[in-house]
Amino acid sequence: MTEETTHFGRKQVPVGEKAARVAGVFHSVANRYDVMNDVMSLGSHRLMKQFAIQLTAARAGDKIMDLAGGTGDLTEKLANIVGPAGQITLCDINYSMLSNGRDRLLDHGISGNVDYLQANAECLPFPTHHFDVITMAFGLRNVTRKEVALKEILRVLKPGGRLVVLEFSKAINPGISTIYKSFSKLWPRIGQAITGDHDSYQYLVESIEMHPDQETLKAMFSDAGFIDCSYHNLLNGIAAIHIGNKADGL
Ligand SMILES: C[S@@+](CC[C@H](N)C(=O)[O-])C[C@H]1O[C@@H](n2cnc3c(N)ncnc32)[C@H](O)[C@@H]1O
Repeated sequence: MTEETTHFGRKQVPVGEKAARVAGVFHSVANRYDVMNDVMSLGSHRLMKQFAIQLTAARAGDKIMDLAGGTGDLTEKLANIVGPAGQITLCDINYSMLSNGRDRLLDHGISGNVDYLQANAECLPFPTHHFDVITMAFGLRNVTRKEVALKEILRVLKPGGRLVVLEFSKAINPGISTIYKSFSKLWPRIGQAITGDHDSYQYLVESIEMHPDQETLKAMFSDAGFIDCSYHNLLNGIAAIHIGNKADGL
């Protein structure tokens, strides 16, 4: 019997190996992740995340999961919105990213309404109907079985709850797409210079190429059972924010 495979960047790997390979990438980059994020996005990820937070419509008292939350920059902002009556779970599959996130939040005086969980988006250890909002920034493309993760997210959302996914996507204008691809080809070399790790940033470039375009991802949201699915293109579609809602009666 042939083994089922999936993509890891441009390589095909056995499905059972992808999560460990992705883990290797993020263990390796965790300590310099925030610096590299600013360099690679020229700071624009901060504005994109601010917009994603607005689209969550999060309120004081909400229960939120920042899934694949890594070093926790979304978590920090959400913690301030939900306040002491609310709760944020910073969830990531990778211990190194989570531990950097926890240090950063504690250094910034955020505690009390944040908890930390190491878990895979494909198998979330929560009861059905638990969260008001789930955010996922630049995480979904790394997940092996995205359709499984989307169904699992839908399950743990409360009826009327909302998923907001910020991810790289496909630039609409061919000229912008070409310029962006030339810029992103520099990332492995920049990664080598700043972190000493070329290969992890090569994976990041390739994982962006392999990620579904806006309409395909929107259809995946609908197929998983989300309603009123929509997206906003950012930077001409280099990135996009997808929104899906859980029906009231579900
Ligand atoms: C590019 S980082 C994004 C971190 C943060 N959300 C941000 O925007 O800066 C991707 C994160 O996804 C996490 N991740 C990858 N696969 C995952 C999975 N199956 N379940 C949960 N987290 C995952 C990685 O460990 C990593 O921390």
